[in-house]
Amino acid sequence: MVKQLSITKTSNIDQKYGELSVQLGALIGDEKNLYANLANVSAALKQAFDFFWVGFYLVDTPDELVLGPFQGPIACTRIKKSQGVCGACWEQGKTIIVDNVDNYPGHIACSTESKSEIVIPVFQDNKVIAILDIDSNQLDYFNAKDAVGLEKICQIISDTL
Ligand code: SME
Repeated sequence: MVKQLSITKTSNIDQKYGELSVQLGALIGDEKNLYANLANVSAALKQAFDFFWVGFYLVDTPDELVLGPFQGPIACTRIKKSQGVCGACWEQGKTIIVDNVDNYPGHIACSTESKSEIVIPVFQDNKVIAILDIDSNQLDYFNAKDAVGLEKICQIISDTL
């Protein structure tokens, strides 16, 4: 098991996600406990990229997500299906990038410091079981490279289920 993350500071974004994926694979190993793995993935993403907020919402009932492991300021506890960016990601089953949260109809503001956001679904047997949600305090922060890197990380989580 990896005890310390090592991300090369000078790496470009693809390399950083690549380095992180390899180390997350080793960190997770054959651990099957979803909460433990989501907690470590949140911590690793925060440490590697210093995102403002990074964490998971888990499908809790047929129409509601509940807050899971995260790193950052306190956040909304429950989100209804189709509400906000996370609810839309759950409903659509696809990654959503929001360049400016103020321009996203229905965006749920857990912090006024969040300016842009990316959400990625985590699947089990082709059903969304959780959402990885990352907020930046800068506008236009996330791009297609983040989507590719984070979808790979969500796939690593799915592979444990
Ligand atoms: N902004 C999200 C809510 C969760 S927080 O960003 C942590 C949304 O609109 O679903």
